[in-house]
Amino acid sequence: MKPKLRFLVLVLMSVCCSIAESKCNKGCDLALASYYMWKDSNLTFIAQLFQSNLNIDADTILSYNKKTINSKDSVQQGVRAHVPFPCDCIDGKFLGHVFDYTVQSGDTYEKVAQTWYANLTTYQLLRQYNSYDPNMIPDENAKMNVTVTCSCGNSSVSKKYGLFITYPLRLGDTADAIASVTGLSVPLLRSYNPGIYFTQGSGVVYFPGKGVTCLSNLELNNFFFLF
Ligand SMILES: *[C@@H]1O[C@H](CO)[C@@H](O)[C@H](O)[C@H]1NC(C)=O
Ligand SMILES: *[C@@H]1O[C@H](CO)[C@@H](O)[C@H](O)[C@H]1NC(C)=O
Ligand SMILES: *[C@@H]1O[C@H](CO)[C@@H](O)[C@H](O)[C@H]1NC(C)=O
Ligand SMILES: *[C@@H]1O[C@H](CO)[C@@H](O)[C@H](O)[C@H]1NC(C)=O
Repeated sequence: MKPKLRFLVLVLMSVCCSIAESKCNKGCDLALASYYMWKDSNLTFIAQLFQSNLNIDADTILSYNKKTINSKDSVQQGVRAHVPFPCDCIDGKFLGHVFDYTVQSGDTYEKVAQTWYANLTTYQLLRQYNSYDPNMIPDENAKMNVTVTCSCGNSSVSKKYGLFITYPLRLGDTADAIASVTGLSVPLLRSYNPGIYFTQGSGVVYFPGKGVTCLSNLELNNFFFLF
């Protein structure tokens, strides 16, 4: 290769790579995790799992779910609870938050991802952000980095929405069903999740927390006055 050409290739490569590597440069104050309540789960427990500088407790979670949850002590299995958390730009690569989870006896990466964090994180993310051998997770009182991804929206799709939900897909979910529950259109859902099949039964999608914002605008303001 001629020196000039080699130089050009190098410049082009570094431009491409820096674009590929820096996918975000800032996060946003707030995102919501859609937590599918399993039998024996409760808001106090969820508030512990999702601790951050927002200092949430069961009542905070309740205030984001007035439409679907009446009491923090009796939440039905199968209800999805919206849990507030900060959405950070992680290593300039993607949006998410790393929770500082305290390991319990008998934990595995699968159990932490699929049960405790209700598929809001994955086995792969846990392996990537923790040095523990999957077969030798410490038994108790150790810490685990639990990464939950999030979205701050996309100004080329719409500037109307400010608060986004991270929603783990379950078997039986469809874009139509999610659209009718959230009051959002199917094309809008798709444009926030390019290349994702809503019927795939796993993985997460992101969409605006439209009803949630309207519903808890007041609480949201109070919430921010607190901090
Ligand atoms: C909340 O859930 C956790 C995990 O299942 C459980 O250990 C705890 O006893 C529950 N607390 C209440 C008050 O039900
Ligand atoms: C998480 O995904 C696994 C595998 O698809 C499923 O068995 C489990 O019920 C899911 N957990 C929740 C809380 O939805
Ligand atoms: C969790 O992440 C922190 C910061 O990157 C790192 O220092 C720590 O070793 C990680 N924890 C585990 C268990 O790998
Ligand atoms: C934002 O939306 C545009 C148009 O749909 C798309 O090309 C782009 O990849 C999206 N950006 C992100 C960060 O998702």
